[in-house]
Parts: sequence; structure tokens; C-alpha cells
Amino acid sequence: MFTLAHLSDSHTTPVRIPNFRALLSKRLLGWLKWVLERRHIHRPEVLAALTADLKLTRPDHIAITGDLTNLGLTEEFAAAGAWLRQLGDSRLISLVPGNHDAYVPEPWEAAWQHWQEYLESDAAHGALVPPQASFRELARTYFPSLRIRGGVALVGISTARPVGLFRAGGAVGGTQLRRLKKILHALAETDLCRVVLIHHPPNHDDWTLRRGLGDGHALCEVLQKTGAELILHGHWHTTNRETLHGLHGPIPIVGVRSASDCTGRPQRSAQYHLYRIEQQPSASGRPQFRITWVVRQYDRARHQFVEGEERVLGEE
Ligand SMILES: [Fe+2]
Repeated sequence: MFTLAHLSDSHTTPVRIPNFRALLSKRLLGWLKWVLERRHIHRPEVLAALTADLKLTRPDHIAITGDLTNLGLTEEFAAAGAWLRQLGDSRLISLVPGNHDAYVPEPWEAAWQHWQEYLESDAAHGALVPPQASFRELARTYFPSLRIRGGVALVGISTARPVGLFRAGGAVGGTQLRRLKKILHALAETDLCRVVLIHHPPNHDDWTLRRGLGDGHALCEVLQKTGAELILHGHWHTTNRETLHGLHGPIPIVGVRSASDCTGRPQRSAQYHLYRIEQQPSASGRPQFRITWVVRQYDRARHQFVEGEERVLGEE
């Protein structure tokens, strides 16, 4: 059995504006929202409690689906990088970025370089990245990422790219889609459990770039034709459970809440998920997997994470 933890949207990095020039962009509105709202909702002490809980639950691997930062400032990338290294080394943790991690255009060396070892595939290719590479170039260079841990193949997609004011959408892009198709087809010939990591939910009704994926339909088509065993996403800060019908059967899609929401609101209070993945005997074709989904939720009164619902995906 393989245990995979999934967390997302921590948004706890400190926002310190280096100078007023830094606010001459989309960051001005983002900074106001952070001052008035976000810094009171997303609390580092909740993320610390989650980190402590992971030491108790001891998953085999941790998947993080982006939005570690607020305004994508260099200091935020460095702070999130320090948190990642404190959580564990890159053999234990796989990361894909979210829209806040590509808030405005920033070069590689000021941004994702701080997270390099957590983003890259097993066969590292970071040395190929030029220091001034844009987020789009990085998406083409690094993603889809592929990491194999135990009997699980973790396939990471980047949907993060700078978008305009009042928008939080993203896109996969043609290059990634073509590579994704090849990777998932190749993995279908193995007995690995294919888990796809993505920040934005791949299938929902908001197809506009305001919040959703601009090319979500094309992504869903690829996933349906190739199949996968599990898709994990963040972005909405709520628990979300949907299904995509794929080549080898239903593909569960599960969204997780923010890892740091301190408010105690019923649909929003911080959670992370644990998946217990077991391969089942199968007479022919692709192996079958039994995936148990366990919610770990933040208890404000006790300031710790406690076990919540447990269910088997596909048997709910
Ligand atoms: Fe997001």
C-alpha cells in the first residue's frame, strides 16, 4: 500500500513590498486583498499544525498543487522554498505551481528556481533553464513532470501563467498537452497507478480565463483518451469531487481545500487529504486500484488536524 498526502493553496508566505514600483501592476489589487482579507484567513500557524500532523501520519509522498505564495514576490518564493525544505526533501514531495505563483511575469531565477528540486522530473533537466526564462518557457521545460514512487506515477501539469486584472485562470498549452498524451499512453503499458497533479480543476463550467482553464476541454479530451487513476487539484479552496470517464474506467477528480484557512467556516476550514492506494488483482488489461480517501481537517479549538471522513473512491 502506498500513502499519498495532498495539500494545496497555503498562501502563507509573508508579503513585504520591496518598493512602490512593485505595486505598479496587478499586485496593487492583490496586495489590498491580502491586507484586508487574505492575511487574516491563511495563517502560518495552521500550516505549522498541518506540517506537524504530517509527521504523525507519515505518508509515503506529499503532493502540493500550488499557490504557496500570494503575489509571487521573490521573497515569497524564497520563504516557501525554506518551508518545503523543512517539510522534507524532494524525494518525498512533488509540487506543481498555481496561478498566484505566476502572478506577474518574473524570470526563473527570481521565482520557481527556489523550488527547482520539487518541480522537476526524476530525470533532472534544470540545468537547461536560462536564468531569464519566462513562466511559459518554464512550463514547456519542466512539465508535465514525471516522478515514480513505489507503484505510483505522479504526473505534474503546470497551468500557471500570468493573466490580467481580476483573473485567476490558467492554461495547459499545446506543448504540454502533446507531451501529456505521450506520457499517459506510455504509463498505460505499465502497472503503475497514474496520479495527475494540477492546480486548476480540469473540468468545470467556468471555462473562461477569469478563474478556469482556457483549454480545459482539450485537457479533458486527452485524459479521457489516455485514462488515469486519479486527478488531484486545488484552486477553489473547497472540497470538490467529480468524475471523468476515461479509457480504463472512471477517473476520480478530487479538489482539496486550502491548507491554512483558520476561519472555521464549514466549507472552507483547512484540510488536507490522504490517499491509500492498493493494487487489486486483475484478470486482464490494466491493473485495478483501490483508493481510500481520508480527510484530515483542522480543529480550531484543539489547534490540530484530526481525522475526518474516509471513503473508497468509486464506491461512494
Ligand atoms: Fe489558485
